[in-house]
Amino acid sequence: MSDNRETEGAAGLAGGAIQVKDTRTGAEAEIPIEHGAIRAAALLGIRSGPEDEGIVSYDPAFKNTANCISRITYIDGDRGILRYRGYPIEELAGNTSYLDIAWLLIHGELPTSAESAAWAAEVGAELGVPDPLPRILDGFNPDGHPMAMFIALLAGLGALHPESKQVTDPATRAAHVRRLIAAAPTLAAMTYRRGKGLDPVAPRADLSFPANFLNMVFGGEGSGYEVHPALEQAMDVLFVLHADHEQNCSTSAMRGVGSSHADPYSSAAAASAALYGPLHGGANEAVLRMLDEIGTRRNVPAFMDEVRSGKRRLMGFGHRVYKSYDPRARIIKKTAYEVFEVTGKNPKIDIALALEQAALEEDYFIQRRLYPNVDFYSGIIYEAMGFPVGLFPVLFAVPRMSGWAVQWNEMLEDREQKIARPKQLYLGQPKRPVPTA
Ligand code: ACO
Repeated sequence: MSDNRETEGAAGLAGGAIQVKDTRTGAEAEIPIEHGAIRAAALLGIRSGPEDEGIVSYDPAFKNTANCISRITYIDGDRGILRYRGYPIEELAGNTSYLDIAWLLIHGELPTSAESAAWAAEVGAELGVPDPLPRILDGFNPDGHPMAMFIALLAGLGALHPESKQVTDPATRAAHVRRLIAAAPTLAAMTYRRGKGLDPVAPRADLSFPANFLNMVFGGEGSGYEVHPALEQAMDVLFVLHADHEQNCSTSAMRGVGSSHADPYSSAAAASAALYGPLHGGANEAVLRMLDEIGTRRNVPAFMDEVRSGKRRLMGFGHRVYKSYDPRARIIKKTAYEVFEVTGKNPKIDIALALEQAALEEDYFIQRRLYPNVDFYSGIIYEAMGFPVGLFPVLFAVPRMSGWAVQWNEMLEDREQKIARPKQLYLGQPKRPVPTA
């Protein structure tokens, strides 16, 4: 199925249709198949009588509903394939910078070296954020969760860039896609600094995108901090791996909120809020807390007993789409050892490896096709690099900003899209009178 969808692409499958018979009325209908899909609206024509509004497809949590046509990211969950604009993630990670990936997501092609340099300069010019934001940040307690601060600052940018509301104007959209990508690391670093009671560090456009981010987090005047090239490279790889992942929970939030023509900063704040949850991007934080709790390899069997009995989830395992090894997890696992060369080994990797081994041999996981996802090993790297655990979801949001922004733009360019508004099946009380006293 996914093979066909992929190879046939926009040209569509060779056509075909499904024939349905409504056993209530005996009526028959033919519903065309396009790109391996049927249009849900075609079901509206199947009615039991004149009063009937037609058949609705019921799909809690959108397990089998395509909400859009997209040309950005391709995933084949059975085969563990992830591609941005057709390029395999394994070939992009380590060979292409995150900023070039952002360009690729936006334009559909990798930049030439001249385009790459011009794009880096354009993003570099937008790294700073308007003055009121540090003052807003000061209003938070240092022990507040960095993701909550990030979401608030991001939404605050909407108030500071009211012109971004012109979402039907392509030039305005392009400007704010760029600004979102550029502002994300600056806001993220500010939340870290607030947590430590430190002043923000000004962005530096003379550094690479990941090096500037590391410097805004750990550097600053008098810190003596120098970005290590291996950590700069690892950060870039992590950014590349997290850049987009098609219609996940947070991207759907970005598209859904954006479909009401809210400004892109409000939509990105909503997407970040969706990412924050432990079942999505907050899983990287949850994995580290779980590893802390397990403490040592010896406790792995007891922990796995709890998972098997349904008391616990093995965080960082399982995925709605991947029913095989998440290709990003494989790359991250390798990157972890490159980071340890510089930082020293994070001993939690041994617990994680023991959990993975136990899970991959365990019937519970085999039957449910549960494998490590992107969040299983990323937190171990982040911790080795010196990031606090609460910052992990924010580290995910920084590069995902490019995916969100590009998906948002694609949604607004798509003439078939309208304000997102699912239906419900109402099974509540029928009309009844309010009781009188
Ligand atoms: N540990 C133990 N059991 C699990 C796990 C897990 N991590 N994930 C799924 N299962 C089990 C479920 O209990 C269920 O079992 P059942 O059939 O006996 O009821 C079965 O596997 C199917 O799970 P669902 O929850 O129905 O799968 P869904 O597609 O809705 O959920 C999700 C996917 C949310 C990622 C889930 O696997 C999970 O909670 N994983 C842990 C959290 C996590 O790592 N999230 C990050 C995902 S990657 C990302 O979003 C960036």
